Amino acid sequence: MSRRPIAEMAGLGVAVPPRVLTNEDLTHMLDTSDQWIVERTGIRERHIAGPDQSVAMLSREASEKALQRAGVSARDLDSIVLATATPDRLLPSTACDLQALLGADHAAAFDISAACPGFVFATAVAEGLIASGQSEVVLVVGAEKLSTITDFQDRSTAILFGDGAGAAVVRRASGNNGRGILATFLKSDGKLAPLLYRPGGGASDPISEKVVCERSHYMKMAGREVFKAAVLAMSEACDQALQRAGVSADEIDLLIPHQANVRIIEATAKHAGMPMDKVMVNVDRYGNTSSASIPLALDQAISEGRVKPGSLLLLVAFGAGFTWGSAVIRW
Ligand code: ACO
Repeated sequence: MSRRPIAEMAGLGVAVPPRVLTNEDLTHMLDTSDQWIVERTGIRERHIAGPDQSVAMLSREASEKALQRAGVSARDLDSIVLATATPDRLLPSTACDLQALLGADHAAAFDISAACPGFVFATAVAEGLIASGQSEVVLVVGAEKLSTITDFQDRSTAILFGDGAGAAVVRRASGNNGRGILATFLKSDGKLAPLLYRPGGGASDPISEKVVCERSHYMKMAGREVFKAAVLAMSEACDQALQRAGVSADEIDLLIPHQANVRIIEATAKHAGMPMDKVMVNVDRYGNTSSASIPLALDQAISEGRVKPGSLLLLVAFGAGFTWGSAVIRW
């Protein structure tokens, strides 16, 4: 039997930059084909932000929608937790820029770095802030400009990633209706970091002519190893969240997995015992948007009527670190 939820997700919003980069566009930049990309990944197009569209600005657009849908004003926020692998600047946090843009004058604002499961990690942090009494209303954001750390000369990674943002208001669960976050599960394995990482440009190898010439400020990935690890980790995360929530897979109305690759999604769903008609897939439209991926999928599921008040959702994600996590939410 699951415990009474401490926190609930009260409103969601997303934003993507208008420019669309199709697989066909990529064939003019790289030795690849639409057929290869669709067969191996399920991706058809992704959105790419321009230089004037910062992570904070994408976050603001998503956040304003989330606040409006939750009926909450920015001044009501006690905390802003922003997950990103692509902060606008390394100092200060993008969350502080977002706080200023929103006018969230009473909020504590900070970033977390947990790669693709960042939105799940940030949701668990928000629940903890509420449980401790630190906050009543938290804005959780997952936002990325992965195009800025993608090497468009490397066909093994350039085809995968896109830009976008998603935000949710997480607040103290309001009643006896059972709605809210029933369970979360978070895990990491830092030994596997070199399978998906940005070797240069950080404090251990600061940006320099050498870093730029070696292109080591861009993401490097061992695709096959990441693929295998993603399936194993997302399967574990599904099992753990279901067990902690005290629910079985057949009670779940919709699985909302991180959108990295449709084959990873299918393998995860198979392990969890979920038929694909109970799995949200929109990787074809956005590619892998890392921490923005789950809110982009959840928002589309809501707008298509696949998530309604009372729906039981399983969120699951995996990414660089490696990091993985999951959540069971009664919407
Ligand atoms: N177009 C055409 N050919 C390509 C491309 C491309 N874009 N990229 C690689 N190839 C070639 C390779 O050079 C290789 O050729 P070879 O056999 O002559 O050497 C061949 O295709 C097969 O390459 P693999 O890397 O073995 O292909 P694979 O089937 O593993 O697919 C992919 C590659 C799509 C990257 C896959 O491994 C994958 O999705 N991995 C998971 C990566 C991921 O999702 N990372 C995101 C971060 S973590 C997360 O979010 C889950």
